[in-house]
Amino acid sequence: MNTPTGPAVPGSPGGPPDGSAAPGEPLLSVRGLKVHFPIRKGVLLQRVTGYVRAVDGVDLDVGRGMTYGLVGESGCGKSTLGKAVLRLVEPTAGTVRFNGVDVAGQSREGMRRLRRHMQMVFQDPLASLDPRQSVESVLSEPLRAHGFAGDRSRRVRELLDLVGLPAGAAARYPHEFSGGQRQRVGIARAIALNPELIIADEPVSALDVSIQAQIVNLLEDLQDQLGLTYVVVAHDLAVVRHVSDVIGVMYLGALVEEASSDELYAQPLHPYTIALMSAIPIPDPEVEERRRRILLTGDLPSPVDVPPGCRFHTRCPFRQPTRCADESPDLREMRPGRKVACHWAEEIAAGAIRAAASAHDPTATEVGTPSS
Ligand SMILES: Nc1ncnc2c1ncn2[C@@H]1O[C@H](COP(=O)(O)OP(=O)(O)OP(=O)(O)O)[C@@H](O)[C@H]1O
Ligand code: SF4
Ligand SMILES: [Mg+2]
Repeated sequence: MNTPTGPAVPGSPGGPPDGSAAPGEPLLSVRGLKVHFPIRKGVLLQRVTGYVRAVDGVDLDVGRGMTYGLVGESGCGKSTLGKAVLRLVEPTAGTVRFNGVDVAGQSREGMRRLRRHMQMVFQDPLASLDPRQSVESVLSEPLRAHGFAGDRSRRVRELLDLVGLPAGAAARYPHEFSGGQRQRVGIARAIALNPELIIADEPVSALDVSIQAQIVNLLEDLQDQLGLTYVVVAHDLAVVRHVSDVIGVMYLGALVEEASSDELYAQPLHPYTIALMSAIPIPDPEVEERRRRILLTGDLPSPVDVPPGCRFHTRCPFRQPTRCADESPDLREMRPGRKVACHWAEEIAAGAIRAAASAHDPTATEVGTPSS
C-alpha cells in the first residue's frame, strides 16, 4: 500500500523535515525504545523507589504509506509508546528516527517544526477538543501556530470537506456534535498541516459500533488521498486487522510478535497472541464449535515488577522448565516477515508443545479481550 506523500500545505513554510533518510529507509524507525516512569516516595526528598517500565525496549519500523497496528491489553504501554515517538513523553532510552531525523536530537524549536509532520488522533475526541473553541478556531489554531500564510478560512472549509463535515460546522462548538462527528473534527485538526505520520490512539473505541466503520473508512480514504502513514493503536483486534498492513502485539511494555495482518490471523505464533486470537468468536458455526479457547492463569503482572526471563512466563500455558523463567527471548525473525519473542515458537507451531490442561480449565481467566 505504498503511496506517495501528500502535497505540502499551500502557503505553509517548510516542506518535509530535512531528513537524511536513506533510499528505502522506513518513514519511522524505532530502536530499543524505553519509557520508565520513576515512582517517587517521601514528601521532601522524593526518593525514587522503583520504575514503571511502561515501554521496555521496543524496535519497530513503519514504511511510508503503511499502517502499523499495535494491539495488547490495557496498560501494556501502547499509548506511552505512541507519545514517546512524538516526544510527548521523554524516552528513557533508545532512538526514534522520523524520515531519517533523530527525534531525540531536536531542540525545542526543531521539535515544534517536526511535529507538523507527525500528529496524533486521540481516543476521546471531546477530551482533546477545547469546549469553548468553535470548530473554526480549533482548526485554525495549528495553521496560525505554524505560520500558514494562505486563507485560513478557506483551508478550514477544505479540511471539513475532507473529513465529510458541512462547511457550516465551522461555526459550531464540539458539544453540538455527535461522537463520530467530533472524531471527524479531531482528524481534521490532525491533518490540518498535511502531516506524513498520524498516530491514532484508539481512534474508534469510544464510538458506537455502527459509527466505528465510518471513521475507519474515513481514515483509509484520507490515507489514499494524502499518502498518510499510520500507527493505529487499538484493543480491538477486528479494527486493527481491517486497517493494518503489519501488526505488532505488545505485552507488558514489549513487542512479543509482529507479522503482516493476514499472516498473524492465519497463524499466530506467540502463546500470548494465540490466547488473544482464541478469544475471538468465529462467524462460521461449525468452525466456532471446534474453537478451543486458551485461558490464562494468573493476574497480569505489574509493569513495576516485570517477571524475569520471558515476561509472559507467569501466565503462559506453553511454558517449559526452566528456560522460560531464566532466559529472556529476543524478538527474532522466525521466518521472513514473522517476528516472535518465544524460545519455543517452532515447537508450538508444529504442535510438539501443547498448552497445559489448565489452559482449558473453566476457573482460569480469559485473556484481556479485545474490547475490554
Ligand atoms: N505519566 C505516567 N506516570 C507513571 N506511570 C504511567 C504514566 N503514564 C502511563 N503510566 C503507566 O504505564 C503503563 C502503560 O500505560 P499506557 O497508558 O501506555 O498503556 P495502554 O496500553 O495505552 O493502556 P490502555 O489500553 O488502557 O490505554 C501503565 O501501567 C500506566 O499506569
Ligand atoms: S518463551 Fe516460554 S513462557 Fe515465553 S511465550 Fe514462549 S513458551 Fe511461553
Ligand atoms: Mg492507551
